[in-house]
Amino acid sequence: MPGYITTFPSRNVLITGGLGFIGSNLARRLTDLGARVTVLDSLIPEYGGKLFNLDGYQDRIKVNIADMRDEYSMDYLVRGQDFIFNLAGQVSHIDSMRDPYVDLDINCRSQLSILEACRKHNPRVRIVYSGTRQIYGKPQYLPVDEKHPIDPVDVNGVNKMAGEWYHLVYQRAYGLRATSLRLTNTYGPRMRVVDARQTFLGIWIRRAIEGEDILVYGDGQQKRDFTFVDDAVEALLLTAAREEAIGQIYNLGGDEAISLRDLADQLIALNGGGAFRLVPFPAELKAIDIGDYYGDYGKIKNELGWAPKVKLYEGLRRTLDYYRQHRVEYW
Ligand SMILES: NC(=O)c1ccc[n+]([C@@H]2O[C@H](COP(=O)([O-])OP(=O)(O)OC[C@H]3O[C@@H](n4cnc5c(N)ncnc54)[C@H](O)[C@@H]3O)[C@@H](O)[C@H]2O)c1
Repeated sequence: MPGYITTFPSRNVLITGGLGFIGSNLARRLTDLGARVTVLDSLIPEYGGKLFNLDGYQDRIKVNIADMRDEYSMDYLVRGQDFIFNLAGQVSHIDSMRDPYVDLDINCRSQLSILEACRKHNPRVRIVYSGTRQIYGKPQYLPVDEKHPIDPVDVNGVNKMAGEWYHLVYQRAYGLRATSLRLTNTYGPRMRVVDARQTFLGIWIRRAIEGEDILVYGDGQQKRDFTFVDDAVEALLLTAAREEAIGQIYNLGGDEAISLRDLADQLIALNGGGAFRLVPFPAELKAIDIGDYYGDYGKIKNELGWAPKVKLYEGLRRTLDYYRQHRVEYW
């Protein structure tokens, strides 16, 4: 039985970005655990938020459609919360290069707003921030651990780095009970599949189901690691429940590093058909590509006992099943 099982019943929990991919999976799980969940989401159409992500839970989760950029909403919403999972963000790397100011507003300024609101109105809240491996940039060694230099290759990476460090500064300077998890490529039911804004795997899944070729950029030899969303949710819950995680940063990771070519092959096999095509990198993506990446999650494994449980083939199978069943909601 997970160590957090007694932590959440009847506790007040706010999830920013809670209609999005990871946030909605977390909201559902916390509700099942007996928490009183409020989600905050602005439902910006280019991002991953969807009301359908909470299908079946609408009567048990409070939904507040508000924008984190609005400081007054934040002042109100943080009050009385025992836990905040701070997942709202602009997640597209390309969009952050095309419109750096929006990324700055959401991934930096809004993070300060929520932290200021907590400092003034709820200084004892436990807050977990969703950081990203993107802040490491092109790996200097593999697997990448938390001591790897921070060297982001895009505006999103710079701003997510600042968002994370605001949390840590507020922890050190004001005693706010914050932790950051650096997520790697996360996938599973409720991810965005209309385009590659959130993850290329989303559009791959959609194309595979539709019988269209999957487009793999470059030679397809780049390696990545993947976390199934249930494992990411598990890490978020475990981290929030553990006092010794306060002030810490932890990498998440996957059970294997796999080349994009092999990933495409695996997806096609599970799909029962399809094909992939190697195509040249679009120039604007090449400029921010990081080559091979896979992370070392030894710190969270040793300190909190987290490790990914869902194997890649099993996670891909469950994801394909979900979108075959619900494609009308996501296409
Ligand atoms: N999915 C991944 O692979 C991955 C990897 C690393 C880090 N992360 C981080 O995890 C978090 C969640 O990502 P996700 O994949 O679920 O993306 P997502 O787009 O599905 O979820 C983010 C949610 O935040 C909401 N949001 C954005 N700006 C907002 C604002 N100003 N006010 C209120 N709501 C706002 C969006 O509407 C969306 O529902 C993000 O912070 C992201 O940086 C995700």
